[in-house]
Amino acid sequence: MTASSPAINFHQLAFEAGKIFTPGSPLNERELFAGRSDQVAQIIGAISQKGYHAVLYGDRGVGKTSLSNVLIEFLEDVGQHTMVMPRVNCDASDDFSSLWRKVLRDVSLSKTQQGVGFTAKPIELNEDVLDLLPEQVAPDDVRRAISHLSDQFSMVIIFDEFDRLKNPITTVMMADTIKSLSDHAVDATIMLIGVADSVDALVGEHQSIERALVQVKLPRMSQAEVEQIITKGTAKLGLTIKHDALKEISALSQGLPYVTHLISLHACRAALNRQSLDLTLTDVQTGVRNSLSQWQQSVITTYHTATHSHQPEHLFREVLAACALAVPDATGYFTAASVRHPLRVITGKTYDIPNFARHLNEFTKTERGAILQRTGETRKIRYRFSSPLIKPYIIMRSVADGLLTRKKMEVIEREG
Ligand SMILES: Nc1ncnc2c1ncn2[C@@H]1O[C@H](COP(=O)(O)OP(=O)(O)OP(=O)(O)O)[C@@H](O)[C@H]1O
Ligand SMILES: [Mg+2]
Repeated sequence: MTASSPAINFHQLAFEAGKIFTPGSPLNERELFAGRSDQVAQIIGAISQKGYHAVLYGDRGVGKTSLSNVLIEFLEDVGQHTMVMPRVNCDASDDFSSLWRKVLRDVSLSKTQQGVGFTAKPIELNEDVLDLLPEQVAPDDVRRAISHLSDQFSMVIIFDEFDRLKNPITTVMMADTIKSLSDHAVDATIMLIGVADSVDALVGEHQSIERALVQVKLPRMSQAEVEQIITKGTAKLGLTIKHDALKEISALSQGLPYVTHLISLHACRAALNRQSLDLTLTDVQTGVRNSLSQWQQSVITTYHTATHSHQPEHLFREVLAACALAVPDATGYFTAASVRHPLRVITGKTYDIPNFARHLNEFTKTERGAILQRTGETRKIRYRFSSPLIKPYIIMRSVADGLLTRKKMEVIEREG
């Protein structure tokens, strides 16, 4: 079929694009899931070994929930067709008892709906397990309940958004539960998921369960993984994509699949809007502009607060773009010295640190949205962005405003 064929319903395709590129929600379909094979293998390794549990952590929006959603399909690949995977989204009001009540309710619901693993043998439902739990649930109550259930079927119990729990006692009790399940070799796996730089930040001091816990960090995606998201999605829609358009989206994504979905959706719609099935660089540029208003409002407001100025010659936008491209250390911090090179490429002029030190300092203040955080003593000062999603917004915004191009980004990367 050609682009001019009357049979193509471009409006319908533009609608469909919103089901394939879903920046607002985690993925559920294996078919559209890209990359992450190492991390999936590590988690399956934990599930396959009695006494092991898993923790999956990383930046906001890197794809933690999506990975856990498609895990059940990866388990089917290795012959595990009868897994029951209750999932709980933790929130600030949860305590240990409420979390486990949710888990057990979820198990009984999924049993009623599906039957366990579609086996012929009817499974006794665990409402009684719920009923047997005392008002205040303790780790040992959980161990007994799970042990009872695991005689009947295999379970992976997922606690997503674990970072949102406010009460440290809940975290300690969860660690005690993992220890108890592990010590008693109960055949069920607990998987904790959350936004964190490290396992310690998520689970607290966890030496007692270190041996039992497989720690999986979900890093930003590689360019190849990001490109897979784009090509899988466009192919499913029946679109082709030009090489430079693909490279532009993957460069702007900065390894964050959320950003890839956002730009891809709007780029596809730009192509479809001009009645074409071939996505070009111009469509990406249009898509970037159109998607800017769809970011979280808090990110847009912080950017505006950080960069507004009445002086026409101000450098706030340029310095901020340079910060977003400065090479950070492993913990995400960068130095003033590392801002110098990107700033030169962006502006075409050489600035020394004293020329922009004031900007960096102001970015840490509330009047400029505290967009940066600072650490370290004089001469060892380092900065980092207060939220990981602000960085890709700055880059996209700078591209849309003409401050930055992919060519400049490549020069910065090559020479940085
Ligand atoms: N492997 C993947 N392949 C394709 N798209 C992905 C993949 N991982 C994540 N995404 C997409 O990226 C976006 C963010 O994913 P997801 O919600 O799973 O991230 P998260 O780490 O759980 O985020 P948060 O920290 O906000 O909970 C979603 O639009 C999702 O569809
Ligand atoms: Mg999530």
